Amino acid sequence: MKLPFVALLCLSFLSNGLAAKRSDSKLRNRHVSGGRKLQMPVEDSEEESPEFDYTEDGKRIYYIYLSGPEVFLEDAVAAGEEGKRLCNSVNQPDWDFEIQALYPLDKAIDNFGYNLDTALRIYYANVDLMTQAHATASNMVRFRSPSMDVGTAFEMGFVRAQGKPVFSYYDAVPFYGAFEESGSYQERVFFYNYTTSVEDRFDKDGIEVEGFGANDNLMMWGSYVDTGFPQGETVIDACGYFADWIFENEY
Ligand SMILES: *[C@@H]1O[C@H](CO)[C@@H](O)[C@H](O)[C@H]1NC(C)=O
Repeated sequence: MKLPFVALLCLSFLSNGLAAKRSDSKLRNRHVSGGRKLQMPVEDSEEESPEFDYTEDGKRIYYIYLSGPEVFLEDAVAAGEEGKRLCNSVNQPDWDFEIQALYPLDKAIDNFGYNLDTALRIYYANVDLMTQAHATASNMVRFRSPSMDVGTAFEMGFVRAQGKPVFSYYDAVPFYGAFEESGSYQERVFFYNYTTSVEDRFDKDGIEVEGFGANDNLMMWGSYVDTGFPQGETVIDACGYFADWIFENEY
């Protein structure tokens, strides 16, 4: 489908407007706030061995951060409780460690409001949780597009960049009501009508469709494949892979 000329004009007007706004805020930052020094929780973590918490019966606790668009489900709190329950269900009594799931809504946000101040405090709360975690389990389900949720993508990269393993699953049931295969990225681009066949190398805008057969952008695929585990179907699979990974690496 080609966009009518008027729509293109509107789009270009919109993007010019956005560009103007962006440079305004750049100026504002430079002259007024001077920018903010980045909090870099990653820096120290390489030298220090990871710190561990222990259960009451002396088992080492491994935290795994549950990342996924579940936070956008109508009852996100219930989805989080269920995700944690399922993840924690992989623990076995004879293990000398215990996996404990962390969920992004675990940190209560004071004075919650739909504004940018709240947004930034949620961002920092999630950064703290990911820094505390030893791994992440990420739902790479398609999210309003051929690709996964961008917040989840950021979180996978953030955790991976801390030298921690990323485990993946693809669970469409809570979102679209039925199990579905993840499929390849090309298949999903076709499903969303950006191409006229799965084999097309370029989409309707003439832009190349990544064609390596990975199940999302290759950077997302690579971030969990390099732990040596496949993509699971549910959060239980991903947490189980983490347990296997702990055993294999004597972590
Ligand atoms: C793709 O196009 C078909 C035919 O018009 C339509 O039925 C289908 O809903 C579209 N798919 C998506 C994901 O929008």
